[in-house]
Parts: sequence; structure tokens; C-alpha cells
Amino acid sequence: MRILKNILVTGGAGFIGSNFIRFLLAQSDFSGRIVNLDLLTYAGNMESLDDVQQFHGGSRYFFEQGDICDGKRVKEIFSAYDIDTVVHLAAESHVDRSLHGPEAFVRTNVMGTIVLLMAAQNFWKEREGTLFHHVSTDEVFGSLGNEGSFYENTPYDPRNPYSATKAGSDHLVRSFYHSYGFPVTLSNCSNNYGPYQFPEKLIPLMILNMIEGKPLPVYGDGKNIRDWLYVEDHASGIWTVVRKGKLGESYNIGGENEWENIRLIRRLARLVADKTGKSPVEYEDLITYVRDRPGHDRRYAINCEKIKDELGWRQSLDFDKGLSQTVDWYLNNPSWISRVRSGEYKNWLDRNYRNR
Ligand code: NAD
Ligand code: DAU
Repeated sequence: MRILKNILVTGGAGFIGSNFIRFLLAQSDFSGRIVNLDLLTYAGNMESLDDVQQFHGGSRYFFEQGDICDGKRVKEIFSAYDIDTVVHLAAESHVDRSLHGPEAFVRTNVMGTIVLLMAAQNFWKEREGTLFHHVSTDEVFGSLGNEGSFYENTPYDPRNPYSATKAGSDHLVRSFYHSYGFPVTLSNCSNNYGPYQFPEKLIPLMILNMIEGKPLPVYGDGKNIRDWLYVEDHASGIWTVVRKGKLGESYNIGGENEWENIRLIRRLARLVADKTGKSPVEYEDLITYVRDRPGHDRRYAINCEKIKDELGWRQSLDFDKGLSQTVDWYLNNPSWISRVRSGEYKNWLDRNYRNR
């Protein structure tokens, strides 16, 4: 089991990053420090870590606003905090955006990853006990038909600019292991859901549109399939690989929980109706079939036997409970929602963080 002291988490103000940092600080087998390097793009939100900043800020938790593509800045951070572990999550993450503006995805996802790899390599040199963990996606494997699932050795076949840049970054990370013996692990996860997810992604978008009486845009025939995992279970999967994963290896993490989009939306409609005291029909009537996402991958499904068998990881939350908790969270956090949507969180950042 690896003992880690100073972990650099990139993209820690995003959806998975903020949940990962909160999860990590609650683990009894970690007593070190976390440095969160995040540029605070539209998707990064300091309010997602309010509680963390309040309880651990300046002692075990440190925030650095910055760009992972800025080599000088990254180098300074490695040295200032004596970083021994990187958990690399920072990325442009939304497929629809990548179809409209792929350049930002190449910059952050590919260039940002190489900048981090080189900074870590220079700082660590021959040092022992270091690790670069790269967080990736099942989308690198492409699209499945009705049968089968993605294994760690499934050939890469990315089909949209987002997944192409994630595949590129995965290859770079692996190349550092093979070329230089640089210490890496990787994980490829399926669709996450849970609190603090930016409401451009399917589940939060549908919940909020239901509450606001807006159309529920269903791409294509609504029969594309995704495999859903609660975000905290992804966090525990990452932590499992970081502590116990074999160097140079990739581990799939998934929910074994496949849902056709339209079935999931109808299920959400029933759940939201239960909690708001309205009729599910009222929400289902909002379903609006729209033009399909270009090149829309049909089905994702993860085989995660390797992380279960070799590292003992298990997901802890069933979908009923996870989805119910998620709906509750979005119903109970209107101020977070309006701030991330309005950009007001940037003013909040100015007030609270910039001029410390
Ligand atoms: P997100 O969009 O919610 O968060 C991304 C974070 O990265 C934001 O806080 C943003 O400010 C930051 N960021 C962006 N560009 C940056 C830069 N140049 N420098 C520093 N920070 C920058 O994304 P997410 O959904 O939390 O995904 C996190 C990671 O997990 C990504 O690498 C993604 O590919 C991967 N992943 C996501 C899912 C999912 O379902 N969301 C599933 C599997 C893997
Ligand atoms: O599989 C892991 C990936 O999951 C991550 O790597 C990505 O970062 C993450 O964004 C997610 O990608 P998807 O494209 O699967 O997620 P999204 O929430 O955008 O869409 C989920 C499904 O719902 C997909 O089939 C498209 C469909 N969809 C999405 C939106 C936003 C709709 O039908 N309507 C919508 O409005």
C-alpha cells in the first residue's frame, strides 16, 4: 500500500474533483495535504468546496488557481508543496462543447497533460514513492453494439473530439511509463452522477428543467445507453488505484448499471414528482425529441472485474439511493445552481480568494 503525503489534485473545483477531495479528507488512511490546482473555467466552482476550505483550508487543503498548461506555475507548485502524488482530473469534459470548439480540448486535455507529466518527471527525478494517476473515461473505447462491454485491453476507438483528446492523454501517460519507467496508473470510468455536477450534463439538466418546467431535450431516439456510477464510488475507485494499483496499469471503473436515456429520464420524472408532490405526467410531457448529437456513441458499458478482483474495490451505493440523493441535492441547493449558471461564483471568488 502506498503512503502518500502531498497530493496535487488537478481540476479539484470541478464535479468529480470536488467530490474526490471531500472523500479523501474523510479517509482514515490519509493524513497528508491536498493541493487543488484549478483554472476555474466555467465548470470549476469554488463553492463546491466551501466546507473543505472552511475545515481544512491552510492546514490540509490548499487552493491554487492556475492553468495546467502553464509549465512555470506547475513547476512552482510541485516545489512549494513538495508534491509526491498527482491525481490528474483537470479537463474540458463535455462532449457537446467539444463538437463546437475542439481546440480548447486539445489544449487542456493533451497539452495540459504533457506539461504536468514533464513537471512531475523533472521534480521527481529518481525519487521513490511517487505516483502520477491519470483519470480517464470509457469514451476512449468508442461505441458498443447491443452486446459486450469495455475491458482494459479493448482497442481505443475514440469518436468525438473530447474522447480523442482523452485518448491522446492516456497514450502520453502510458508512453512515459514505457519510455522512462515513470510511475503511472490510469483509470477509465463510466458516466458519473451526483452532487455538484455542472447542469449541462444529462442528469442535472433534466432535474432542473423539470423543476423549471422547461423542455427535456432528448437527443435522437433516446435509446443510447450509458452506464451510471455514483460520483463518490468513482472517488473510492480512484483512491483504491492510487493506493494499490500496479504501476503502468489501467483499471476500469463502472456502475454495471446500464440505462437507455429515455428510460432514465422517465425514471427521473417519477422521482422528481414524488418529491415535489406533482404528477409524473406533468414532467414526462416536457420530453422533447431533438436533433441527435453528431456521431453520438450508441452504448457504453464497463467491465470492472479487474479493479474488483485485484484491488478489492466495490461500489457502495445502489442506483435507487444514489439517484434519490442526487435529486434531493439539486432540490436543496438552489443558490449553488443559480451561481454556477450565472457566473456569479466568479465574483464570489474575487471576494474570498484572489487577494488573500
Ligand atoms: P468538470 O468539467 O466538472 O471539471 C473539470 C475541472 O477542470 C473544472 O474545475 C475546471 O475549472 C478545471 N480545468 C479545466 N481546464 C483547466 C486547466 N487548463 N487548468 C486547470 N484546471 C482546468 O469535469 P468532471 O466531470 O469533474 O471530470 C473530471 C475528469 O474525469 C475529466 O478528466 C474527465 O475526462 C474524467 N471523467 C469524467 C466522467 C464523468 O462522467 N463526468 C467520467 C469518466 C471520466
Ligand atoms: O462515459 C463517461 C463520460 O460521460 C465522461 O467522460 C464525460 O466527461 C461526461 O460528460 C459523460 O459523457 P456523455 O456524453 O455520456 O454525458 P452527457 O451527460 O452529455 O450525455 C449522456 C447521454 O444523454 C448521452 O447519450 C447524450 C444524452 N443527452 C445529453 C444531454 C446533455 C441527451 O439526450 N440530452 C441532453 O440534453
